[in-house]
Amino acid sequence: MNMHPIILAIESSCDETSASVVSNGKVLNNIIASQAVHRKYGGVVPELASRAHQQNIVMVVQEALQSAGVKTAELDAIAFTRGPGLIGSLLVGVSFAKGLALAHQLPLIEVNHMEAHVLAHFIEDPVPSFPFLCLTVSGGHTQIVLVKDYFTMEVVGETQDDAVGEAFDKAAKIMDLPYPGGPLIDKYAQSGNPKAFKFPLTSMPGLDFSFSGIKTAFLYFLRDEMKKNPDFIKENLNDICASLQHSLITMLMTRFEQAREQFGIKDLAIAGGVSANSGLRNAVTEYGKRTGANVFIPKFEYCTDNAAMIAIAAHYKFLKKDFTTLEVVPLARMPIGG
Ligand code: KG4
Ligand code: ZN
Repeated sequence: MNMHPIILAIESSCDETSASVVSNGKVLNNIIASQAVHRKYGGVVPELASRAHQQNIVMVVQEALQSAGVKTAELDAIAFTRGPGLIGSLLVGVSFAKGLALAHQLPLIEVNHMEAHVLAHFIEDPVPSFPFLCLTVSGGHTQIVLVKDYFTMEVVGETQDDAVGEAFDKAAKIMDLPYPGGPLIDKYAQSGNPKAFKFPLTSMPGLDFSFSGIKTAFLYFLRDEMKKNPDFIKENLNDICASLQHSLITMLMTRFEQAREQFGIKDLAIAGGVSANSGLRNAVTEYGKRTGANVFIPKFEYCTDNAAMIAIAAHYKFLKKDFTTLEVVPLARMPIGG
């Protein structure tokens, strides 16, 4: 068995078609084709996402191999995201990976998308030490994960309804901003006053979260203000975004800090699309300075969906010979650490 494997990894769980080549644990590239088609719909349209994956996947994979200077004959395995995600989107990546593996007689490696978000921290130094706590925040998930080893992970807290990324995106949609709204709210928030407006902070038992209440409160708040002044959003966009973002981050940080105290862990990481948020990055950095915790924040390109994180996860799976069969099917739901 080659212990310096070269692996091609494919990610297609939602609305980014991505491919990456990892050689002996070093990620060589991270090619991403984003789908602009969803912008005007205020969210990802599953049917359109599958079609866009189908359109982009050959080009994305070819570009990853070419820019890495790797031929298919040199590959030792093909990796893909099995789930969680949209079934139609996942099917494109899974089927493409199977076809390549079959054609070139290569082993297949399945990767859990949420584990890969956590493992994005091992793409580049410095890396966290086990055990560490990871706050994984994306468009579909909000989890506090106790990471004991590469694939020994336990969700110790999670949202009971909406994901925090969904709260960002739905709030943006209410304000008529295009999808995905998270990055836009972040941008406007940077020149706003986070204390301008108050939104109710929902707290759940233990280390769990809930974001559906603040979304509804936000909707009613804007509806009432717009009755008084139809230009309310336009005139107060920065302050509205800053206040909403501040509330969402406060909810996240309260539970994350509580988890750190509960488990007495020194290394803290954030991952997933919302870890690109400048307010959250600042809040975690500040917390580290205040308490002496070691804080790990991924590079922007490894926060939102990407195949580099699938590639690094696949590398560690290859080392323990954890391969999958040609009968594998994608999973819309796929628990981590399973
Ligand atoms: O991890 P990801 O790319 O896809 C999922 O697995 O869901 O996360 C996408 C989510 C979207 O909800 C998007 O609005 C949010 O991450 N996001 C942000 C920022 N960048 C991406 N939310 C807040 N601030 C950002 N800068
Ligand atoms: Zn993701």
